[in-house]
Amino acid sequence: MRRFRVAVVHGVNLDQLGRRDPKHYGGLTFRELERQIDEWATEFDLTPRFFQTNHEGALVEYLHRAEGLVDGIIINAGAWTHYSWALRDALEIAKVPTVEVHLSAVHEREAFRRTSVFEGLCLDVVAGKGPDGYHDALSTLHAHLLEVAPARVPATGTRTEENLSSPETPQITDPESEDHDPLDDRLNVTTSTNEIDGNIGNEPPSPV
Ligand code: DQA
Repeated sequence: MRRFRVAVVHGVNLDQLGRRDPKHYGGLTFRELERQIDEWATEFDLTPRFFQTNHEGALVEYLHRAEGLVDGIIINAGAWTHYSWALRDALEIAKVPTVEVHLSAVHEREAFRRTSVFEGLCLDVVAGKGPDGYHDALSTLHAHLLEVAPARVPATGTRTEENLSSPETPQITDPESEDHDPLDDRLNVTTSTNEIDGNIGNEPPSPV
């Protein structure tokens, strides 16, 4: 059986980890966090696809393209979690099993962080466990995908093959790279931290 593909999606300001309050978010930089998730995903025999953006519409469009291209989603949408109904709708449209993750204990912080627009849509919500929360999320997704695999996962080659690239979302994959996967063209992502509009250059985690 082929490996499940999991999109690890981060929203606004998460690329600034390492500069944010360590009391809530710990000491890892975003690049280090993605590397850690990448290692854990390999442990679960999952193929991760990483995407981070500070542009709400880019995340909406990413979710529009996700169905059939990834088997599961782990989402930490940052502050959008608390007010972006557009993201909720986009995730609902995606119809991909999802686990919501927050590094910090959102339920014990300011009142505005205690609501999530994704409520009721996700398999699970993991919050307040720091990076370990992503390990829990990968584990939950993996168990779920194994359980539903025969029903949900199409055989290789039956996935939609149309080009899902969007002109609004910058192309962030290096087509020349050896570990380039055409799937990433259709999602407009890279297997490593993305670079939108020349944002911080992040080294890719080791290829899977
Ligand atoms: C966060 C919690 C959000 O409230 C906050 O806006 C973030 C990060 C977390 O991971 O704990 O940016 O999603």
